[in-house]
Amino acid sequence: MGGASDFSTLSWQDLRTAVESCTRCAISKTRTQTVFGAGNQQAAWMVIGEAPGAEEDRQGEPFVGKAGQLLNNMLLAIGMPRETVYIANVLKCRPPNNRDPQADEAANCRGYLERQIALVNPALILVVGRIAAQNLLQTTAPLARLRGQEHRAPVSGTPVVVTYHPAYLLRQPSDKRKAWQDLLFAHEVFTRHVQP
Ligand code: URA
Repeated sequence: MGGASDFSTLSWQDLRTAVESCTRCAISKTRTQTVFGAGNQQAAWMVIGEAPGAEEDRQGEPFVGKAGQLLNNMLLAIGMPRETVYIANVLKCRPPNNRDPQADEAANCRGYLERQIALVNPALILVVGRIAAQNLLQTTAPLARLRGQEHRAPVSGTPVVVTYHPAYLLRQPSDKRKAWQDLLFAHEVFTRHVQP
C-alpha cells in the first residue's frame, strides 16, 4: 500500500481510528498498542520523533520515558512547555527492540503524520534525531548537515528545524550545548514566521 493512501480529508477522530486499526506492517503484530500522538491540537510548535519505545508502547503516549523527560525540559527551557505543543512520531508502532524504522514502515505511516501536520498546522516543526529528520525531509543527509538550517516539510511546507534526539543527549550530555543552540535557532525561525 505504501504512503499513497489519501488521508487528507480525515478528522482527528477518523485519523486516530485509522491508526489504531492499522495492520500494514508486521510490527503491528508485536505492538502493545499504537502511539498516535498527543498534545495541543492547535499548537504553534509540533515535535516529531522517531518511533515509540517500550514505555510509549505501554502507555500509548509519545515521549513518556527518560528521553521524554529530557524533551519536556528542553521544551520548557525554550518557553514551549510540553502541554503547549503537539508531539508525534514518524512511526506509530514500536519496532521490536527499538530497532530503526525500515523504509517500508516509514512509507506506510507517512500519510498519518502528514495528516497530523495538516490538522495541527503548526508554525514550526522541531524534529528530534537523524532518523526522524531523514524520514520527514526525505533525505539521506547526516544530522550534522541538517542542524542549523531551516527546512520545509514536504506537502505542508511548514518550517522545520532539526536537533539531536533526547535519548542521544542522555548518552552524550556534552552535546546539550549544541542542542540548546538548535532550540534558540528554532525559536528564531518560529518568531520570524509568526511576526514577519
Ligand atoms: N523516542 C522517540 O523517538 N519517540 C518516542 O515517542 C519515544 C522515544
